[in-house]
Amino acid sequence: MTIRLDYTNMMAPPIDGGITEAEWREVASRFEDAHRGVADEHASGTLGFLDLPDDRALHQQTLDYVGRVKVRTGELTDVVVLGIGGSALGPIALRTALRAPQWNLLDDAARGGEPRLHVLDNVDPANISALLGRLDLRSSLFVVISKSGGTAETMAQYLVVRARLNEVLGEAGARDRLVFVTDPQKGALRTIARNEKIEALEIPANVGGRFSVLTPVGILPAALIGIDTAGLLAGAADMRTRCASKVLGSNIAGTWAALQYLADTKHGRPIQVLMPYSDALRDMADWFVQLWAESLGKHRVAGDAGVGPTPLGALGATDQHSKVQLFMEGPGDKTVTFIGVEEGGVDVTIPKLHADVPELAYLGGHQLGELLDIERRATAGALARRGRPNMTLTLERVDPFHVGALFMFLELATAYAGRLYGVNAFDQPGVELGKQFTYAMLGRADADAARREWDLLPKPDPKRIV
Ligand code: PA5
Repeated sequence: MTIRLDYTNMMAPPIDGGITEAEWREVASRFEDAHRGVADEHASGTLGFLDLPDDRALHQQTLDYVGRVKVRTGELTDVVVLGIGGSALGPIALRTALRAPQWNLLDDAARGGEPRLHVLDNVDPANISALLGRLDLRSSLFVVISKSGGTAETMAQYLVVRARLNEVLGEAGARDRLVFVTDPQKGALRTIARNEKIEALEIPANVGGRFSVLTPVGILPAALIGIDTAGLLAGAADMRTRCASKVLGSNIAGTWAALQYLADTKHGRPIQVLMPYSDALRDMADWFVQLWAESLGKHRVAGDAGVGPTPLGALGATDQHSKVQLFMEGPGDKTVTFIGVEEGGVDVTIPKLHADVPELAYLGGHQLGELLDIERRATAGALARRGRPNMTLTLERVDPFHVGALFMFLELATAYAGRLYGVNAFDQPGVELGKQFTYAMLGRADADAARREWDLLPKPDPKRIV
């Protein structure tokens, strides 16, 4: 068994205002259509993310590159991913989940000789200049990731890095320190790669940015820092098999998607929290937030009011001292999905000190992992007691297999949810206008229409500025 979902606390009973048997039966038949729709779309060749676990050639291409670059560069101390959104969140989640805590702060021996991994995911100059200021460019590799090959933030990161590399290492040396991950044919990165013979790995054309973690987008950074990428793909394949059934209760990702959909559309609970009780999985929540938000927040038809749940990440037990108060007593507009881990690996016994202080004495002799797990169960129970729906995903352990399975679980759930909501989960038209306005303000030649639209917007009113 890889990952289990316990959704008892989503249903009525036991939850007053939970999902009813009638709603469940009704959505079960709608799920059959959703399942068929996803299968048909896959058969038509558009849902490439489902093929990634079997794409041996793509995986091997990445491993071959890693072998070559490690020989060519000799000592590789730092890998820097330049990218944003779906081209950055996966590598961050993989590093946090599958490498030792505080990976980038460990010394070479503690990292087993593997490099540090930095992921920019923004264009904040403070962060980029600090990183470039402390890196040894001679032992660093820059992985430029962009599916479209032209995203403004990633291209700006690239231009800054490229100029620095040219300056320090010369043009040839700079090329040697770069690898691109991009569309097989299109985009500026592909053109530069062709013109300058810079190594470039492929994101299959039919895999979109936020569904690309199991392409070289995630697999290359993971392999470069020594993560077992075959294990990731095996876990994803296993999860895909577990989601072969069109029968709701037998399809784990379908079940989760349908519960979230019903909670939102029938019970007014559009805010959907993913809350791992594991530091290793904390960045999976960020990855999920992007996937769920950008895939499902859409107009069904142009100009309608829009649909879609609002994802929120949280971390147990930390957020028990923050967001959980809101989950417990704030508006009843949320579901919480806890993630628990059965085998934490390392554990720490809490010492039996201060036996005469009752507020501490009860802790002594327990394990920290046990405390974390008990807190998760206690919070789930407390939410249920207050009629707040919640469910729990349990991973046997945090290893490549289970993390790969979790990625596939959430991707498939998103594809099913897209069908249930009646939206296209694989596009993101809503981010376009902001991009066009940015181009207009930066003076991009083809942004005249956006410039005109920008000029029509109300200007800041001095009376309304305090
Ligand atoms: O999911 C998506 O398509 C987006 O979030 C992209 O990942 C993000 O905009 C970055 O795009 P690109 O990989 O083309 O640079």
